[in-house]
Amino acid sequence: MPGELTYRPVGVEVAAFIADLHTANFPQEPLDPVLVGRWLSDPMREWERFQVELDGGPVGYAFTAHFPWDRVGARHATVFADLLLDRRHAELLKAVYEFADGRARASGAAATRTYIFESDLVAHRVTTELGFRPDRRERYWELDLRANASRLRELAGRSRSRMREQGVEILTFAADPDPDRHAKTYATSTEGELDVPRTGEHVPDSMEKFLDWLGSPGIHEDRVWIARDADRVVGLSALSYPPVRGIVNTDWTTVARSHRGRGVARALKLETVLQAIDLGVDRVRTDNDSANAPILHINAEMGYTNVFDRLWLLKL
Ligand SMILES: CC(C)(COP(=O)(O)OP(=O)(O)OC[C@H]1O[C@@H](n2cnc3c(N)ncnc32)[C@H](O)[C@@H]1OP(=O)(O)O)[C@@H](O)C(=O)NCCC(=O)NCCS
Repeated sequence: MPGELTYRPVGVEVAAFIADLHTANFPQEPLDPVLVGRWLSDPMREWERFQVELDGGPVGYAFTAHFPWDRVGARHATVFADLLLDRRHAELLKAVYEFADGRARASGAAATRTYIFESDLVAHRVTTELGFRPDRRERYWELDLRANASRLRELAGRSRSRMREQGVEILTFAADPDPDRHAKTYATSTEGELDVPRTGEHVPDSMEKFLDWLGSPGIHEDRVWIARDADRVVGLSALSYPPVRGIVNTDWTTVARSHRGRGVARALKLETVLQAIDLGVDRVRTDNDSANAPILHINAEMGYTNVFDRLWLLKL
């Protein structure tokens, strides 16, 4: 029998441990310690973070996150849990999930959700035993930039003409001289946040969080692509470039409701990947909810192929 697990409250410094553990357990999704640290300190959410210890040594992590309860009607919390590969047995993992779920409920959550790889049979089994059920599917895609370079350039050429015909200008955030570009891009971004298919309520980023995102180590203002229609910013797409480890991936794409269905997202995404090719990147990733038909359509057309799926599980 294993010894007793203990749960030590920790700060965001646990990020490097989590990134290493996740990368070892799921090499198909290497995580960057710096970017995990920023995620774990997202000021829009309230967090509880624990290092899981066995016989005095670190063996895993558990944490919970939720929007402040006074900002949402339905109290949904997200719980995450995992153990080092050599300790990753159903019995122990179940105890860690149970602990995280218990913390979330003690903080007032009426429902909890967690996020596992579809291929992760151990996590699937223990979360099912604890009452979690599949709720949503997130599709992870990869685009081979070497194999698709010439086709992508051709698609971008067509997109550029289409944008010109509509009077929509595609440029980088850094190249936009408008002193109000921050507020204008923020307004379009928050509108789009509310339209991503999801379960439960969403509190859009504050302006402060948006500015913090722009300054994130993975984001570069000259790699954030925006669409302008006259005085408005009507779209945005950016790849995140992990500074330490990981695969360059689309961080966020959104288009103003008033301008959807006109090819703006496709035009923006194409610019981000052409720039990545010029920067010497060989492949990029993107992930999207399986109900997000327009973005999945664009991904397929660009030549992305599905690499794996992750599941959101919900426990009411
Ligand atoms: C997803 C989003 C960015 C797409 O922006 P957009 O500018 O309307 O996209 P485009 O016009 O370039 O392309 C959309 C394509 O999807 C197609 N499409 C739209 N609805 C569709 C549906 N239900 N099923 C299949 N295809 C659909 C469109 O016909 C178009 O393809 P086409 O040009 O070949 O006809 C936009 O809907 C949005 O901002 N959503 C909210 C934010 C979001 O979900 N972001 C992505 C996830 S991170």
